[in-house]
Amino acid sequence: MQPSAISRMSCLSLASKDALRGPVAIVALAVLAVGCQSTPRSTPVAPAADSLPASAPIVTTPRNWPDTRTYADPLSFVTRSFHLDLDVDFEKSQLRGTATLELDRVDPNSRELVLDTRDLQIDSVKTAPAGSDDFRTTHFVLDRRDAELGSALRIAMPRDAARVRIAYATTPQASGLQWLQPSQTVGKRLPFLFSQAQALHARSMAPLQDTPWIRATYTATLRVPAGLVAVMAAEGDADNRRGQTTFHFRMPQPIPSYLLALAVGDLEFQAIGPRTGVWAEPAVLAAAAWEFGDAEAMMTQTEALYGPYRWGRYDVLVLPPSFPFGGMENPRLTFMTPTVIAGDKSMVGVLAHELAHSWSGNLVTNATWRDGWLNEGFTTYFERRVMEAVYGEERARLEWGVGHQDLRLALMELRPDEAWQGALAPDLALHKDEGGSAVAYEKGALFLYQLERRFGRAQLDAFLQGWFDRHAFTSVTTPQFVAELQAGLMQQSPGKIDAAFLATWIDGAGLPVDAEFVQSDTLTRVDAQRLRWEQGSLTTDALQTTGWTLQEWLHFLNRATRPQPVARLQELDQRFRLTESRNAEIAHSWFRLALASDYPGLEPALERYLTSIGRMKLIEPLYEDLLQTPQGAAFARRVYAQARPGYHAIAQRGVDHLMQETP
Ligand code: BES
Ligand code: ZN
Repeated sequence: MQPSAISRMSCLSLASKDALRGPVAIVALAVLAVGCQSTPRSTPVAPAADSLPASAPIVTTPRNWPDTRTYADPLSFVTRSFHLDLDVDFEKSQLRGTATLELDRVDPNSRELVLDTRDLQIDSVKTAPAGSDDFRTTHFVLDRRDAELGSALRIAMPRDAARVRIAYATTPQASGLQWLQPSQTVGKRLPFLFSQAQALHARSMAPLQDTPWIRATYTATLRVPAGLVAVMAAEGDADNRRGQTTFHFRMPQPIPSYLLALAVGDLEFQAIGPRTGVWAEPAVLAAAAWEFGDAEAMMTQTEALYGPYRWGRYDVLVLPPSFPFGGMENPRLTFMTPTVIAGDKSMVGVLAHELAHSWSGNLVTNATWRDGWLNEGFTTYFERRVMEAVYGEERARLEWGVGHQDLRLALMELRPDEAWQGALAPDLALHKDEGGSAVAYEKGALFLYQLERRFGRAQLDAFLQGWFDRHAFTSVTTPQFVAELQAGLMQQSPGKIDAAFLATWIDGAGLPVDAEFVQSDTLTRVDAQRLRWEQGSLTTDALQTTGWTLQEWLHFLNRATRPQPVARLQELDQRFRLTESRNAEIAHSWFRLALASDYPGLEPALERYLTSIGRMKLIEPLYEDLLQTPQGAAFARRVYAQARPGYHAIAQRGVDHLMQETP
């Protein structure tokens, strides 16, 4: 929807136009609605959205901008804090105990509390008045299970009830937990458990209002078998240590439920700096502490850009290779894939990314998953700013370049009926994927880069600092951001961007023609070499790759024309040992190029890769590639049968989908 079209419509027709769905359209509608009230009825044409006073407050609430992926109703009850008291039972692969919620009754007439659950066994529900321990049994029902959302738990709330205590247990297939056998760990001696709550999996760990609109503080007690160590994305008690079987935690800052996180295993700690450190299995601790050794410097730099770090400590937990993501920004304790530990800090962009979420995401949170770009796009932009501050401009340019290629591919792969996914805040009610697409990340980051170019860095940084100050520890929506941009930067420096700019970037699919990109001369030189190599005027032996960074390699492999002649790939493989690469990203990009070129002899290495790594971004595209041919599909199915039990439930679901799509 073009704003010029909006401005041509009358107030009346606007009110009934449900075709206007994008966030920018919503802001325009709200501004116009304000305008309509003060505009004489006879005025046939509403003023252009961008000429209206931008001071009209845009109030988005769960009513006009709902989270469609929760059963909870933030307009009847809101959880203020909760306490988890859980036994961690490795024999039964089960968490068992109680969750106690402290609630505000937003609507005094509310008599039913609805919580999200998924595959939880609910044993009893009791309520008590505020401040009272006089818990009495109340009535509850557990609705039928929805495959995506789980089951609503409906609890009858007596008039004076403000506390709810639920006795429950998780099930072994809990989507947010992975219970690992000792054989699936590095040490092979002790079992391991870790959680992954984003986006809709906290509800498989505890009955909660599982929506990022709602934030709560919490405390937790975990009882674990002797010899294991429990950590949470929270502050641990001073006497939490190996040898104890009871571990206590508290999270004094209010968090959305998707940031609830725990892990139990053979874990040791090593400090990096005064506020930073690493938790890992003993065998990988030293390598991890080296790889993430710049965490403290990154923190200092991010604080200089976006204001104080408000979570106390920042530690990194290294997980077993089945962790389904690169990293997860659990507060105070980023969860990290071990595939980032390359021995050369080439992938610490992931660390900068998860740290940056301490501002964009954890401090100021997307209110619904539709607003995911406010988390991921902001964070991707910040990630590059932090990389620039710590490692220099060139490193940041390289990462922009790789990201740009990811975005190009993602947009290209959208079928015409999926074009709506090219918008920054697409209506996720239609969308079932886990994890984010490159659109939220890279188009979101590019959008902020456009603002940097048009308004200037200092102005954008000041605006963003203000954004974090104004909204610290709250959840925000896309229309709210658009409105504040209009009232802030756009008002201060008129004429730099207009409503059409906002509409094409935020509501429009794909990239506007006048989009500006960060250029990297280094990557341009890689392109030049590759083109000569592809045309045959440069032999494989003559390729100048000495000193190439990971990003240059990825750029070379990702941009290579496909298919490539097998003989040329063989030369490349022989010279650079790509099939055997120990770098998980290089191996991934090489496998994709090789598969697209029918490169023979890949199977043993590919099988090893797919059975030893569970990071979705690395494995899913490979399964997709394999499924393109009957022979590849047969191989994929055989390997997946072997790999599946070792994957996290989220990855299993993702790959299951791919397999089902291919007959
Ligand atoms: N919060 C995301 C991971 C996520 C997104 C989990 C959506 C579930 C649903 C995390 O911050 C992230 O973006 N991780 C990336 C790394 C990053 C450098 C792009 C990943 O896992 O690859
Ligand atoms: Zn992220």
